Amino acid sequence: MKIGIIGAGSVGGALGRGWARAGHEVTFGVRDTSDPKVQKLVAETGARAASVAEAASGAEVVALATPWGATQDAVKSAGGLAGKVVFDCTNPLAPNLSGLTHGFDTSAAEQVASWAPQARVVKIFNTTGANNMANPDYSGVAATMFYCGNDVEAKATAGKLAADLGFDPVDAGNLEQARLLEPLALLWIRLAYAQGLGREIAFKLMRR
Ligand SMILES: NC(=O)c1ccc[n+]([C@@H]2O[C@H](COP(=O)([O-])OP(=O)(O)OC[C@H]3O[C@@H](n4cnc5c(N)ncnc54)[C@H](OP(=O)(O)O)[C@@H]3O)[C@@H](O)[C@H]2O)c1
Repeated sequence: MKIGIIGAGSVGGALGRGWARAGHEVTFGVRDTSDPKVQKLVAETGARAASVAEAASGAEVVALATPWGATQDAVKSAGGLAGKVVFDCTNPLAPNLSGLTHGFDTSAAEQVASWAPQARVVKIFNTTGANNMANPDYSGVAATMFYCGNDVEAKATAGKLAADLGFDPVDAGNLEQARLLEPLALLWIRLAYAQGLGREIAFKLMRR
């Protein structure tokens, strides 16, 4: 698939590396294509780097991997997201990881959908660390990747692209369920840092 990744940091880089390895056509949408970090990523992955607008316009799937505070600007720079599958990978973290700026009666994902009302938004790749996006394998067991959204086809694409990275994808329902997935991300962060478990942890949905 043609995938535009807006943001080439920890999350954007991990997703881009994995999808390029899986044979997808990845373009990083960045503010400065000459940035040495971006150039290194391009050299490593064989992906392209382009402006945010160009990466989004040529893509079937656009992944938003920007700090929450920059996401409205990133959506605006991306231009016409109408009809595109848009992955919201962000977490609306309050300063010092003290909590979330959205929750209970809305979510960052729903906010993104309001900024891009014709996009098919899926919340995904927010509930675990970028290290797990690079490698979701725990001794032969695939970490769970929860996702949610209102468009059935867009969610099927999300599940497939999560599986391509090695995750066990789990559909959590409509986009409103992002109100649950965003706090779940904060739980992962608290376990990793405040509780001292470190980043080599991941959620797993058990089945029988
Ligand atoms: N890190 C994790 O483990 C993790 C896990 C799950 C979810 N998340 C969420 O994923 C998002 C990205 O996190 P990250 O750790 O990857 O952040 P990061 O390493 O700081 O990378 C952020 C990227 O966004 C770009 N960016 C910033 N402002 C932008 C703008 N206005 N337009 C376009 N691009 C812009 C940055 O580019 P410049 O270099 O130009 O500033 C950078 O490439 C956050 O919302 C975070 O909460 C993170």
